[in-house]
Amino acid sequence: NRILQTTGRITLFTVVTAGGLFYYVAHKDRTPGPQEPHDPTKKTLVVLGSGWGATSLLESLDTEEYNVFVISPRNYFLFTPLLPSVATGTLSAKSIIQPTRYMTRHKKRQVTVIEASATDVDPVNKIVQFKDTSEVQGLVSSTAMKYDYLVYAVGAETQTFNIPGVRENACFMKELDDAERMQRRFLDCLESAAFPGQSKEEVDRLLHMVVVGGGPTGVELSGELHDFLEDDLRSWYPELVDSIKITLVEALPSVLPMFSKQLIDYTESTFKEAKIDIMTKTMVKEIKEKSVVLQMPDRSIREVPCGMVVWAAGNTLRGVTRELMAKLPNEQTNRRGITVDESLRMKGADGIFAIGDCTATSYAPTAQVAAQEGAYLARVFKQLAKRDALRAELEELKGQTAPEGEQERKVRVETLESQVAKTDKTRPFKYSHQGSLAYIGSDKAIADLPFFSSGNLATAGVATYLFWRSAYLSKLFSLRNRALVANDWIKVKIFGRDVSRE
Ligand code: FAD
Ligand code: NAI
Repeated sequence: NRILQTTGRITLFTVVTAGGLFYYVAHKDRTPGPQEPHDPTKKTLVVLGSGWGATSLLESLDTEEYNVFVISPRNYFLFTPLLPSVATGTLSAKSIIQPTRYMTRHKKRQVTVIEASATDVDPVNKIVQFKDTSEVQGLVSSTAMKYDYLVYAVGAETQTFNIPGVRENACFMKELDDAERMQRRFLDCLESAAFPGQSKEEVDRLLHMVVVGGGPTGVELSGELHDFLEDDLRSWYPELVDSIKITLVEALPSVLPMFSKQLIDYTESTFKEAKIDIMTKTMVKEIKEKSVVLQMPDRSIREVPCGMVVWAAGNTLRGVTRELMAKLPNEQTNRRGITVDESLRMKGADGIFAIGDCTATSYAPTAQVAAQEGAYLARVFKQLAKRDALRAELEELKGQTAPEGEQERKVRVETLESQVAKTDKTRPFKYSHQGSLAYIGSDKAIADLPFFSSGNLATAGVATYLFWRSAYLSKLFSLRNRALVANDWIKVKIFGRDVSRE
């Protein structure tokens, strides 16, 4: 009895303490204190974007040193790795986004967040133009700002290769809206297929889901669609579920070219068991309202009826990035993106740093790279602030004459000069690869993890899936998002996914 009582007390104490701690952290997050206002003596740092690169920079940046402005058409950070889960209703949209102000309001000095798209950057006069592109606009909806430093982190947009019908007829999987639109379209296809009197041929068409692009986005989305089908649709649409067909179309000879052969084979066999058709060496040539036109491996053309096409065929540069690069034609010649030096400075431009998917580097365009680049830049800016302060002191001292302490002044000038020279050099950016992870459906994930210095550890299966979940949970930027995502996972396990079409 006494043992039971003691165990009960310990458990109660642990639960109450953990609950109290959780509440305390959440409350602290919700109630930011006052901030120092902008300081006219400080330099202006403008950050374009609120994605992986920009958010990681803002998280580590010492805002006391700068007057910081964040300009982005979305006023939140989007945790892209979990976007396919939103498209199938495993997670709700709000669970994977974090308003940028939730982070910036906790900074020591005020950070101004502006919901707008940068429309032009003048790298010579250091001016950025921006415009409110949202639905509601005030009397002023476009203006310009002068910067001392600009962090260019606008990401990329979906590559369409100008293939006819992609923009008009396909869903994308890049932004939050895309995932929500795809979910609505998918459920609409189901309901239309359930409409009385529909022919078998039409039901088959409506329930044929084509995913274009066998990169990680296309693979993860196909896996999530399959889970939705097996876990939920089987119960609510029993008469239709066997007609649902998922096809993944990839132009290259295999899916997931960035993963090891072993994991590609594992994914292909998991998809085969899950009845997801993979069509490799097959290129989409056109997307029509009710069909997709394919060029088959033997170069013949086939038109396949379908209800929904999701286009996940990779990235291309944004228009604003192309225009900026065109202003520096001698230095910016790489069509893949902005060329930067080893400290992520845009070549040919003074005061511009570029990070993430808008750049052309030797790294893959991933969240991991963008986040590390953002954190690196925060360190660079700390060093620049130190250098600028030393330079200012040096200039002041050089302009002075001190007949009494001339020798002392000279020594101080020399010391400052050597300190400035030291802070002028920044350590180059070095990427540390933490591994690649992808969810492939059926409660299975694949992982290529660096294993000491001896190579890669390739792992797959249910345990890897649990690792995938815990890794992404820990990578979410806030306690709030972790709680929301964990809650959604539990909710879906107990009640299943919602099939109402909002
Ligand atoms: P983004 O995160 O795209 O941010 C760009 C920001 O710029 C956005 O806030 C945008 O609103 C803003 N912006 C756009 N235009 C303008 C403008 N004109 N002016 C100002 N701001 C602008 N990578 C991984 O490493 N692991 C994964 O598991 C993974 N999963 C993914 C899943 C999906 C579905 C997708 C689409 C991508 C995934 N990625 C993953 C890739 C990863 O999301 C990108 O590499 C990463 O987002 C790049 O970060 P970024 O800061 O360069 O761009
Ligand atoms: P991707 O560029 O990796 O893959 C796109 C695929 O579409 C390519 O394999 C290409 O051959 C194919 N394709 C292009 N045009 C086609 C056509 N007309 N017909 C058929 N196939 C066509 O793009 P994705 O998957 O969006 O990924 C973008 C970046 O984000 C990558 O760097 C990726 O590594 C990263 N990412 C990482 C994830 C992870 O680590 N789990 C998840 C999602 C994205």
